[in-house]
Amino acid sequence: MAVTVLLGTQWGDEGKGKVTDWLAEDVDIIARYNGGDNAGHTLSVAGVTYKLHFLPSGVVRNGVISLMGGGMVIHPLRLLAEMQTVIDQGLTLSPARLKLATNAHIITPAHQALEQAQEAARGAGAIGTTGRGIGPAYTSKIARDGIRASGMADPDAFGAAVGAAAEQTNTVLTRVYGAEPLDPDQIAADYADAARQLKLYLVDGWALVHDALNDGKAILAEGGQATLLDIDHGNYPYVTSSNPTVGGALTGLAIGPRHIERVIGVAKAFCTRVGAGPFPTEQDNPTGDIMRGDGSQPWDDFGTTTGRPRRCGWLDLVALRYAVAINGLTELALMKLDVLSRFDELKVAVAYEIDGQRVDTYPIDQAAFARAVPVYETLPGWREDIMHVTRWADLPPAARAYVDWIDARLDAPITLVSVGPGRAQTLIRA
Ligand code: GDP
Ligand code: IMO
Ligand code: MG
Repeated sequence: MAVTVLLGTQWGDEGKGKVTDWLAEDVDIIARYNGGDNAGHTLSVAGVTYKLHFLPSGVVRNGVISLMGGGMVIHPLRLLAEMQTVIDQGLTLSPARLKLATNAHIITPAHQALEQAQEAARGAGAIGTTGRGIGPAYTSKIARDGIRASGMADPDAFGAAVGAAAEQTNTVLTRVYGAEPLDPDQIAADYADAARQLKLYLVDGWALVHDALNDGKAILAEGGQATLLDIDHGNYPYVTSSNPTVGGALTGLAIGPRHIERVIGVAKAFCTRVGAGPFPTEQDNPTGDIMRGDGSQPWDDFGTTTGRPRRCGWLDLVALRYAVAINGLTELALMKLDVLSRFDELKVAVAYEIDGQRVDTYPIDQAAFARAVPVYETLPGWREDIMHVTRWADLPPAARAYVDWIDARLDAPITLVSVGPGRAQTLIRA
């Protein structure tokens, strides 16, 4: 068997957690390959809702091994808190089932404090990050100043290293940003304590993955964030600091391309974005409010990680075709089709107009992308509750026509359609 990569095609929150969980039945290992707890993946299983941030979606399935891969950044204290939350919800976690790659990098309080200061200094140009210290943690990694998870094997030395990093950052925090200094001793003690608890979970991720592949096991590589938030291929600088796109799975899990069998892209049937940055099809108006919902339903579009209202808009086929292309998608899952039941007619962007010119392909020039005005086509809606539908054939004809119409305009087939957060609300498109 081989590796299936599952990744976001838009700006995150497409429903990756749900699809990962749905596919988990047939896999042995679920491995997160990028990001940290900026991710919020929601799984709705047997009436219980799990909100996972660091933890791979495999933790809800007995018999599946969950690996936090080397491409991730981990905050040990927040990871422990998340583990406790799901344990309180009834899951069992043990070092036999949950693994942390030794080459993952550590998020320290210095990273979080720096990010806060940087975002404040950016003023109107703020990125609108999740405030978890993700960017500065990856900055340390790339600058070759980072602390790796492997350091936790020696908890006291690890605590001392994190404390020393805080002390160093204090100079920048106080002198450059006029911010409050951190307490290095307290941080050192807290991180040493966390390391004592987490060192049992450490594993050389590459070896785990390759032993599994050699044994014919199936691995699902779960991406955090999404294509348009990718540091290289997204809407720079309004992006995250990792590679959610397919290459991130290779470096993040230490696998070669020949191991990858399927690349599944997850897309909402409309679009959402949290944080700042361009969003051509955004509906900052009552239409967007209807898409978002009022917050009374668990699936309404408010951030899983930060609770922020998500910006909502129509499906953007230009951006989606870009995601299909650069990730080499073999198939797509189209999520939240049920949300579109709220409209008489549906718009889909098929091209952009930039400075009066029609553009059919995604422009890498972000200044141009920010000026893109969508060219829409309008399709009929269906105005029927479809959340109870369990078979593709039972969808209203207009709902099937909407999906078929999108499918015909993409170079990868839509194989799965989702009409609700639960496992049963998943339709295989025949
Ligand atoms: P992720 O970050 O890509 O895993 O997505 P999130 O969990 O942040 O956000 C997706 C939200 O939509 C969650 O609340 C899911 O439970 C919910 N969800 C997933 N698929 C569907 C669907 O088809 N219909 C509805 N109504 N909700 C869905
Ligand atoms: P999942 O995995 C949606 C966004 C933030 C911000 C930008 C940079 O649940 O899809 P960061 O804290 O990463 O430096 O913030 O990226 N962002 C997400 N938006 N879903 C996510 O994850 C996100 N992770 C980061 O809102 O705009
Ligand atoms: Mg999310």
